[in-house]
Amino acid sequence: MSTKLTLAAFSPVASLSVADLVLAREPPSIQPPIHSYIVANPDLLPRMSLTMAFEIARRTSVARGEAPAASTAEIIELPLDYDTGIKAQARVGLAEELAAFREFGQATRKLTTTFLALDQRALQVPTFVNEFWTAKQRQAHSLHEISYRACFKPQLPRFFIERLTQPGDTVYDPFMGRGTTLLEAALLGRVPLGCDVNPLSAILTTPRLRPPHLEDVAERLRQIDFQQAGKLPTNLLAFYHPDTLRQIVSLKEYLLARREAGTLDGIDEWIRLVALNRLTGHSAGFFSVYTLPPNQAVSVKSQEKINTQRKQKPPPRDVPGLILKKTRILFRDCGPSARSVLAKATSQGLLLTKAAADTPEIPANSVCLVVTSPPFLNVVDYATDNWLRCWFCGIDAKSVRLTVPKKIEQWQTAMTEVFQELYRVLEPSGHVAFEVGEVHAGKTRLEEAVLPCGLHAGFEPLLVLINDQKFTKTANCWGVDNMAKGTNTNRIVLFRKR
Ligand SMILES: C[S@@+](CC[C@H](N)C(=O)[O-])C[C@H]1O[C@@H](n2cnc3c(N)ncnc32)[C@H](O)[C@@H]1O
Repeated sequence: MSTKLTLAAFSPVASLSVADLVLAREPPSIQPPIHSYIVANPDLLPRMSLTMAFEIARRTSVARGEAPAASTAEIIELPLDYDTGIKAQARVGLAEELAAFREFGQATRKLTTTFLALDQRALQVPTFVNEFWTAKQRQAHSLHEISYRACFKPQLPRFFIERLTQPGDTVYDPFMGRGTTLLEAALLGRVPLGCDVNPLSAILTTPRLRPPHLEDVAERLRQIDFQQAGKLPTNLLAFYHPDTLRQIVSLKEYLLARREAGTLDGIDEWIRLVALNRLTGHSAGFFSVYTLPPNQAVSVKSQEKINTQRKQKPPPRDVPGLILKKTRILFRDCGPSARSVLAKATSQGLLLTKAAADTPEIPANSVCLVVTSPPFLNVVDYATDNWLRCWFCGIDAKSVRLTVPKKIEQWQTAMTEVFQELYRVLEPSGHVAFEVGEVHAGKTRLEEAVLPCGLHAGFEPLLVLINDQKFTKTANCWGVDNMAKGTNTNRIVLFRKR
C-alpha cells in the first residue's frame, strides 16, 4: 500500500506511529536531525509516537546549538510505503510493549489481576504498572482545556488510539463527557464517535471538533447586544454583579432565540461552549465572584455563605472580553494543519445524546476502538452539580437521567448492558479500553468488577494497564497507598472482540 501523508511537526496531528517509518521502503525525506535520531535509536521505535520523535529531535538539535529541525507551522510531506499486514502484526504485541516499556525511566511492574466470572470461575489477566503517559510529555492540544467532572487526560485515549488504530478508523466513547476521546481521535485523523446521556456533553464537544475562526468569533461577539435583557433573576446576584448578569442573560436569550429560529450556527455554538465554561470559577477569568471550580456549581445559599465568609461582593466582568480571551487560549494550537485534520476526521463523525446501552444509530461492526470511562459509584447528583449550566442552556436538569448505581451489583448489570452494545458496534478484533477507578477508599477495585461484565458480553479480557505517576514511591500494594496519597492513577481494562 502506498500513500502520501502530511504531518505537522510537534503537533498531535501527527497521525502515524514511528513504526510506520520503519516500514517505509525508502528512508523518509525528513530533516536530518530527526531521521538520524530515529536511526540511532531503533529500540525506541515501536514505543514512540512520531510527535515524540520530533520533539526529542528538536531538543537534541537545540542542545547542540543547531537550528531546530522544524517548527509547529512547518508541514512535512512523507512519501510512505507500508504494508498493512506488517502493521497488524505490530499491534499484536501490546502486552510485550507494556512489559518492556521504559520511556520515562522506570521499568514496568508485572502483576496479575484475579477476578470471578459470572459462573464463579476464578480467572486471571496480566497487569502492567508503570508511568505510561503524562510526565515529561508534551502538553496536550489546547482545545482540550475545558473542565468537566471526572474527565481523563488526553494522553490516556492517545496511548491506545496510536497503538490500536490507524488514520481513518473509527474511535468511539459511549460515555464521552467533555469529549476527550473524540477530540484526541479527531486530532489523530480518526473518525470520532460519541454518546452521553448528559446534553451538556455534546454542547461541550461539538464546537471543539469544528472550531470556528477567531475573527468570526470576535465579529459575532461585536454583533450580539449584551444589554438587551429585561428582568434579571435576582437569586443569581449571589454570583454576579448586576452588569455582568445583564450580559449573561442577554447572551442566554440570544442563543435560545437563535436555537428556536433554527439559526444557531457553529460560531454561536462556540460562544455558548466558552460561556458555559466561564460561568463560575475561582479566578477573575470567570464571570462570577470567587466560587468553586467551574465543574461544580454550588447552590445560591452556599454561595451567599462563601460571600459572607470571604467578605466579597461580585465584581463587574466583561463577558464578551472573557469569552474572547478564553477562545484565544483554546485556539493556541489551532493552526491550519490541525484544523484541516479535524475537518476531515469529523466529516464522518457522530455525537449522540442518549443512554449508551441502546445505540441503533451506530452500525454493527463499524467501530475499531472504544476508549471510555464510565460513571462510577457514589457520584454526586447531576441536577445539583449542573443547575446553573442547564439554566444557561435552557435544559431541565431534572429530566437528565444518568446511570448512578449505588451498589456494585447494579453497576455491573448496567455495564454488562453497555458491553453487549459495544460488542455489536465493534468490528471483529476491535478493542475496548475501559478506564475505571477505585471506590470505597480503595477497597473496591472496579477493574475486578468490570472484567466479568466484558467477558459475559463475549469479549476476551486481554490485560489491565495501570498508569501510575508516583508508583515508585508506593509500597508493595500500590492501590491502597495511591488512594491514601491521592495520586493520579488510571486503571484501564483492555478487551478484544473475539
Ligand atoms: C467519568 S465521565 C466521562 C468523562 C470523559 N471520559 C471525559 O474525559 O470527559 C462519565 C460520563 O458518563 C455519562 N453517563 C452517565 N450515565 C450514562 C448512560 N447511561 N449513558 C451514557 N452516558 C452516561 C455522564 O454524563 C458522564 O459524562
